[in-house]
Amino acid sequence: MLLAETVSALRPRPGGRYLDGTFGGGGHTRALLEASAPHGIVLALDADPVAIDRARALQQNPSIAQRLIPVRANFADLAAVAREQGVAPLDGILLDLGLSSFQLDQPQRGFAFRHEGPLDMRFDPDRGVPASDLVNTLSERELADLIWRYGEEPGSRRIARAIVRERERAPIETTIHLAEIVTAALGGRRGRDIHPATRTFQALRIATNQELTALEAALTGTLDVLAPGGRLAVIAFHSLEDRIVKRFIERESAQCVCPPEVPVCVCGHRPRLQKITRRPVRPDAAEMDANPRSRSAVLRVAERLPDDVDEPTQGAIR
Ligand SMILES: C[S@@+](CC[C@H](N)C(=O)[O-])C[C@H]1O[C@@H](n2cnc3c(N)ncnc32)[C@H](O)[C@@H]1O
Repeated sequence: MLLAETVSALRPRPGGRYLDGTFGGGGHTRALLEASAPHGIVLALDADPVAIDRARALQQNPSIAQRLIPVRANFADLAAVAREQGVAPLDGILLDLGLSSFQLDQPQRGFAFRHEGPLDMRFDPDRGVPASDLVNTLSERELADLIWRYGEEPGSRRIARAIVRERERAPIETTIHLAEIVTAALGGRRGRDIHPATRTFQALRIATNQELTALEAALTGTLDVLAPGGRLAVIAFHSLEDRIVKRFIERESAQCVCPPEVPVCVCGHRPRLQKITRRPVRPDAAEMDANPRSRSAVLRVAERLPDDVDEPTQGAIR
């Protein structure tokens, strides 16, 4: 998604070193390898072993074999992995958040509310607990809060009540079972432009994978391993993610982060990023038509400043 825009924002060059924190189906990595030929390197991470198997398959191509380094890892640890793999400092880091279409298309992964499957939703099936554990063990209040916070679902209380009532009869173990409970709790599908279970599934996926915590850790880590002039490109899929990215870039590119009521700067903050995209970049109409899932994608780009770029602004009148 936003493939051309993202790759060109990273300004790949022959011999550059890049990190793709979300390999998925490999579209962005392939484009980065192509644009940084013949010596550019891409360290490709994904928490999902299926994605990493795909990356290893791509390595069979002799022109790529030495330039692609697939590592199964959570992008929260990207700085440590980049150092371990000897590729830091990096010229570019990409995060294309959310889930891959191959994950959505495999009912056994439990991401899709239209296909029967176990209610799992883990990107890394060997870590953490499946979504069904949350659905069957959290209190009604906790469930309502989770669905409200991560799904921004106005009917969160009704849904939580319905889940708790239903699980008293039998545990909720499958995608369709949960989707039916949510649909009934919201009064059916009629008159809705999105499936009634969309927001609840999003909330459970975010909680199951602790996605927002991982994103915050990854963003902080980028500051440690991006070379001066290196670029960070993040594609977010919903407002919760995008807000985190936006605030991170705002804060790290600000001259001063003192609270507004402080008249004279005392923070001594030094900007470590420069904003490259003044406004979020969205897919063009052709991409949205070809791929309706891309409609909510938003790209933001920033560039790492050298650490001594500016004297601190401490003492400046605000
Ligand atoms: C939208 S897809 C990436 C698609 C990819 N850019 C492409 O061109 O095919 C997101 C991928 O990120 C992975 N992912 C999500 N959260 C992750 C995390 N915290 N650490 C590592 N991988 C993660 C998912 O497993 C998924 O494969």
